[in-house]
Amino acid sequence: MNLILLGPPGAGKGTQAKMLTEEFSIPQISTGDILRAAVKEGTVMGLKAKEYMNAGGLVPDAVVVGIVRDRLQEADCDNGFILDGFPRTLAQADALQSCLQSMNKELDRVISLEVNTEALVERLTGRRTCRECGRGYHVKFDASREAGVCDACGGALIQRDDDQEETIRKRLQVYADQTAPLISYYRETGVLLELDGMQPILQIQEKMLSLLKAS
Ligand code: AP5
Repeated sequence: MNLILLGPPGAGKGTQAKMLTEEFSIPQISTGDILRAAVKEGTVMGLKAKEYMNAGGLVPDAVVVGIVRDRLQEADCDNGFILDGFPRTLAQADALQSCLQSMNKELDRVISLEVNTEALVERLTGRRTCRECGRGYHVKFDASREAGVCDACGGALIQRDDDQEETIRKRLQVYADQTAPLISYYRETGVLLELDGMQPILQIQEKMLSLLKAS
């Protein structure tokens, strides 16, 4: 199954992608995670990307398209993939289309998660991630058993640099300007599933699975 998870920052793309990965045994391809790993490693690409990310802007299309094109060639994508955070501009969507065509693949579904702005800000300011294993939490909606400590591996929970309120609001504006037009782009191609992302995590998961299995 070849899927895209579409939605504003904090909509729950990463949270739901992890569940879909287990359910369908296909990889999650998060351009945000790949870019953050490059920042951590201090590669040339990572250093450049960091400036855009910390300012709440988008990394240039050519960089992210190159990352995704390479990643889709890997063997674990043979049976499908979940794109999380890509595409984010119409140019990226067109580039993805050409890339899939050249690989004789097509998109099965694009799932759009809709969440209101103040809920997104609350989700992102309260998000915490394990420094060691990357597992995600929320201080209120998905808390770890012991504050600041990962349930899975005991690692320290940290806050992302771009999860400060001012940067979050900038990211939401960038989403509205550059990414939201993709909803009608994919609606026109008939692959779009629209889901209410304001429900609790488990309810969204159940609804998403039933829609995917029915389609
Ligand atoms: P990226 O890492 O992709 O960030 P994002 O799109 O801003 O999305 P988030 O990871 O913030 O949110 P999410 O929807 O995954 O929510 P999550 O599940 O974590 O990108 C970061 C940056 O990299 C970009 O700003 C850009 O600079 C660059 N970049 C990346 N891709 C790019 C591209 N294609 N082009 C150009 N630049 C690119 O959930 C959030 C929180 O809410 C968690 O704490 C979670 O526990 C909680 N939560 C989740 N679901 C629910 C629910 N239903 N109810 C209550 N709480 C919930």
